[in-house]
Amino acid sequence: MATKSKKKATIEIENNEDLQDQPLPVMPTEDEAPEVQIEDLPGVGPATAEKLREAGFDDLLALAVMSAGDLADQAELGEAVATKIIGAAKKMANIGGFVSGDALLERRREVLKLTSKVQSIDDLLGGGFETQALVEVYGAFGSGKTQIGHQLAVNCTLPMDEGGFDGDVFYIDTEDTFRPERITQMARGHGLDPDAVLARIHVARAYNSDHQMLLVDEIKRMSKGLNVKMIIVDSLTSHFRAEYIGRGMLANRQQKLNRHLKDLKQLADINNALVLVTNQVHSKPDAMWGDPTKPIGGHVLAHASTFRLYLRKAKAGRRIARLVDSPNLPDGECVYQVTQEGLRD
Ligand SMILES: Nc1ncnc2c1ncn2[C@@H]1O[C@H](COP(=O)(O)OP(=O)(O)OP(=O)(O)O)[C@@H](O)[C@H]1O
Ligand SMILES: [Mg+2]
Repeated sequence: MATKSKKKATIEIENNEDLQDQPLPVMPTEDEAPEVQIEDLPGVGPATAEKLREAGFDDLLALAVMSAGDLADQAELGEAVATKIIGAAKKMANIGGFVSGDALLERRREVLKLTSKVQSIDDLLGGGFETQALVEVYGAFGSGKTQIGHQLAVNCTLPMDEGGFDGDVFYIDTEDTFRPERITQMARGHGLDPDAVLARIHVARAYNSDHQMLLVDEIKRMSKGLNVKMIIVDSLTSHFRAEYIGRGMLANRQQKLNRHLKDLKQLADINNALVLVTNQVHSKPDAMWGDPTKPIGGHVLAHASTFRLYLRKAKAGRRIARLVDSPNLPDGECVYQVTQEGLRD
């Protein structure tokens, strides 16, 4: 990133006195430099490129971080060829550079926080759901993941001075559980005009994991002229889980998921937006103590998520959200409820 031209862009921020009228730097995006393709590597012709792509290696960085043995195995290449490809990828990949702490701090100042309108959840998250972040909400079925997605979609359209982003929402629905009626209920719960709220939530049904990934490109295309402030993928993992079954498929699945997460994170960075993904849990029967459930998606997702919230049902219709992983906040829990009007303390 440090190798690219320092192009400045501005973002309008309306609710922060300090930042008003001040042009804010935006991280250069990958669109600004012509991307080097795997075919551009010396010794990689169309046949090898196809092998690499089939094995899930479609960019240089994915190759640069491999070991020769693993790449040879996964892409069915000779080890000498694999070594050469990795060496070239290391030289040509955009590994990213170092940025000074004060530059990062300046970028952090752009971060906005979306209110859940539930005090205990906002407190748990240090004020709300942050932009430039990928938030993963995981839990068993019926734990309320989709309810959080709907509620935050509504809240995103709230004016800035009410804790919203006055923004547009893209909602990728993989399980056919998006319900405009539910949005209407929650909008009324905040005294908002349901039709105006619905008009700002752009929903697409994803039919399989490839389609789901293509929809992210579609968001990039459609976002011009909109104030994209939130992207929701509900559920992130269900198609991947259903399509890639068994150990042999795991590496492929994780590579694709990784690429999908990178694309989503890029949307968050470019738009100073919040990405919210939901995820299921699977049971870990060998757990001797503690909660025997774990989020699926493995290390790839664990590393990609900036915040992870674990939802559980509690007694008397109450819900518990646990903050599991945060770069700058203590782990903790809060209790809230799901009502007809939406999430409440
Ligand atoms: N209108 C409503 N009023 C009150 N509670 C509601 C309403 N709609 C849904 N709920 C609550 O939300 C629950 C469903 O939660 P949700 O669909 O968010 O679960 P989920 O975690 O997304 O599950 P899955 O893994 O199956 O997608 C219902 O069981 C109910 O308790
Ligand atoms: Mg759901």
